[in-house]
Amino acid sequence: MKSMQRPVSVLITGATGGIGYALALEYAAPGVTLLLHGRRQDVLDDLAERSRARGAVVETAAFDIRKQDELIDWLEDASKRISLDLVFVNAGVNIDIGPGAHGESWEDVQMLFDVNLRAALATVQGVLPAMRVRRSGQIVLMSSLAAYRGLPITPSYSASKAAIKAYGEGLRDWLAPEGVRINVVMPGYVDSKMCREMPGPKPFLMTPENAARLIRSKVAKNRARISFPFPLNLGCWLLSVIHPAVSSFILRRMKYGA
Ligand SMILES: NC(=O)c1ccc[n+]([C@@H]2O[C@H](COP(=O)([O-])OP(=O)(O)OC[C@H]3O[C@@H](n4cnc5c(N)ncnc54)[C@H](OP(=O)(O)O)[C@@H]3O)[C@@H](O)[C@H]2O)c1
Repeated sequence: MKSMQRPVSVLITGATGGIGYALALEYAAPGVTLLLHGRRQDVLDDLAERSRARGAVVETAAFDIRKQDELIDWLEDASKRISLDLVFVNAGVNIDIGPGAHGESWEDVQMLFDVNLRAALATVQGVLPAMRVRRSGQIVLMSSLAAYRGLPITPSYSASKAAIKAYGEGLRDWLAPEGVRINVVMPGYVDSKMCREMPGPKPFLMTPENAARLIRSKVAKNRARISFPFPLNLGCWLLSVIHPAVSSFILRRMKYGA
């Protein structure tokens, strides 16, 4: 990595979504190459144009991230051509138990784990070997405050994000001596399609732009856990350490219960 403050090449999965889009614009600058992934080519084209206007060189890739062969081919090819400084493992989906609390379909649960977990780990697998050879690079894994304590309205989502949190924490300590940095991001509510579709209250809702600015500054400082906003982070963390019966009661009172 050329500079801790200013990565020269940044890859972002899920760049067509609220947070990924804002992250791309946050890093777009002269001398920076952005590799942007999503499914919707029209949104990628629009983002590429806006990023180029800020001086960045941009490549886009549109495909369903569940197609692991395509994902790995793209990542390995990018890693051969470009020395990737920073990779955001950001693409994600959410499902919930539904308005009548009828539950999550098995089909939806599999789709969620394919995107949030299998594709996330495959992304790491795709970029890590070149970083380890180079003994540099940084991977940012997108978890959630929902990882601290399972939410009754989004049990599978909470589980997928808890897995990402644990994976990132383990990777970080494994890879630090090799010069590869790993960060786990745990956002609260950030205005996006996913967030808007999520049931339950959304306290301390942030704009994607503010979230992206905050993430960038903490990533530059190589913080192990980038969790925000502060009051919600504290509240969610406390829910994970108090007695489960008490956290159940609080979640029900706060309308996150089934
Ligand atoms: N927003 C929040 O409040 C919040 C809070 C905590 C954590 N997060 C995490 O932050 C990350 C970004 O979320 P967001 O809020 O920006 O959500 P979003 O606006 O819904 O964006 C999700 C992104 O993931 C991509 N994606 C989903 N399924 C895909 C698939 N099968 N193949 C390829 N790409 C796929 C979407 O592509 P398309 O545009 O093609 O759909 C989009 O680019 C997620 O990992 C999410 O779990 C968000």
